[in-house]
Amino acid sequence: MLSQESTPILDALKNYMHENTISFHVPGHKHGVGNPEFTEFIGKNAMNIDLTIMPDLDSIMHPTGVIKDAETLAAEAFGADRAFFLVNGTSSGIQAMIMAACREGDKILLPRNAHKSAISSIILSGAEPVYIRPEISKDYGIAMGITMSETSNVIRKNPGAKALFIINTTYYGVASPLLELAKLAHENNMAVLVDEAHGAHLAFHESLPHSAMEAEADLSASSTHKLAGSLTQSSMLFLKGERFSPEYVKSILNIFQTTSPSYILLASLDSARKNMALRGRELVARAVNLAQWARYKINHIRGLRCMGSEVLEFGRGLDLDPTKLCISVKELGITGYTAAKILREKYRIQVELSDYYNILAVVSIGDTKSTVSALVKALAAMAGDLGASKKIKPPHVPELPIPELALLPKEAFFSEKRPHDFKESYGRISGEMIMAYPPGIPIICPGEIITRDIINEVLMLKEAGGLVQGMQDRHLNYISVIK
Ligand SMILES: Cc1ncc(COP(=O)(O)O)c(C=O)c1O
Repeated sequence: MLSQESTPILDALKNYMHENTISFHVPGHKHGVGNPEFTEFIGKNAMNIDLTIMPDLDSIMHPTGVIKDAETLAAEAFGADRAFFLVNGTSSGIQAMIMAACREGDKILLPRNAHKSAISSIILSGAEPVYIRPEISKDYGIAMGITMSETSNVIRKNPGAKALFIINTTYYGVASPLLELAKLAHENNMAVLVDEAHGAHLAFHESLPHSAMEAEADLSASSTHKLAGSLTQSSMLFLKGERFSPEYVKSILNIFQTTSPSYILLASLDSARKNMALRGRELVARAVNLAQWARYKINHIRGLRCMGSEVLEFGRGLDLDPTKLCISVKELGITGYTAAKILREKYRIQVELSDYYNILAVVSIGDTKSTVSALVKALAAMAGDLGASKKIKPPHVPELPIPELALLPKEAFFSEKRPHDFKESYGRISGEMIMAYPPGIPIICPGEIITRDIINEVLMLKEAGGLVQGMQDRHLNYISVIK
């Protein structure tokens, strides 16, 4: 009998190990014997369960045994009809979702700040991206969620689009009005695809934004490794409803997945699912409480501000995952990059990311009062040291219209390109992507027409010390354009 108490993959691996089977299969380290130094460091158990496809361990390409059982339990625990284990990260799940929904020339609606795996799948599938402008917080200098009104406009202008792609939540924890967006997309016969790289924990506590499966999304890709306790690279793809057949989705996943999945990663997914199914609510509640305590404390430190309910002002239904601590340091007169460096070098604290205005600290099921107190203490000490420092003027946050698309990303990708003087490049078709920080969203993508406004804004941003990244010429004297 399958139950959430069981771990089918992990149990099969332990069985294999305890039977002392003599291995004449890959991996060639053969239980670590072939690589003693690494085995001694990482431990014999890890090497013993680093195994390969065989009848009792099932096959990820066509699961019928323990992998199928583990996926069935995961679907139940995360509220899906089907779950597929991924060992190439959520990136591979995003690629599969888009390939499942879009063929050559089909339109897909997606926020401008979508992850690069979405863009790579658009290149592969030949789909046409129609971007939705996310709300931008000028105060924090970051992209927030997409609103119902902006999305409805884009849907109205693109009636035949095949899919709506939603990020739940953004890296900074901002959720768009998922339930309403999913309903609207379905009413317009579009598939709902959700990037839940930062949302694996959402289904386990009612104080968090809704999960994709709660919103009846058709497919969602979830980084179990980021926030639900499995090992890095291990993720899950969830399916709900009838729009996509599980067999079709699986056949697409098999294009992207390795044929040699790591059983250590698969076992970690199995074990993380058990942990979340049995204790997820309690663990996530603890993380939420710790993060809310830290937010309160940080907001009482002079010069610091931790993002909270102001997110709600950006549109009806926008929400925040409180476990993400986006801390603005601009009032201290330093950039987020400098703050991250100080925290690491002086206080041995490594944050998840930094941008021009902020640092982002992630509180998760692995935190305790002592780790979160150490963060608050370090922030207070850093702010105290910097109190009297000279203030910097943060760069202005560009808010440009989305440029016109002249070539599909697939056509642009395969076209011949040449470098062109950036200042004189208006009217040309860009052959590359340029990211601007703040607000951390692409200012131009391959296939789009460069405008004078784009050139002016980018030059102003550079002048003010903002970051412009992604292009081949890192000084952006030249931009790659389509020949
Ligand atoms: C918004 C978003 N989507 C997708 C991904 C890709 O997830 P993974 O690293 O699991 O491939 C990331 C990774 O950071 C992300 O930030």
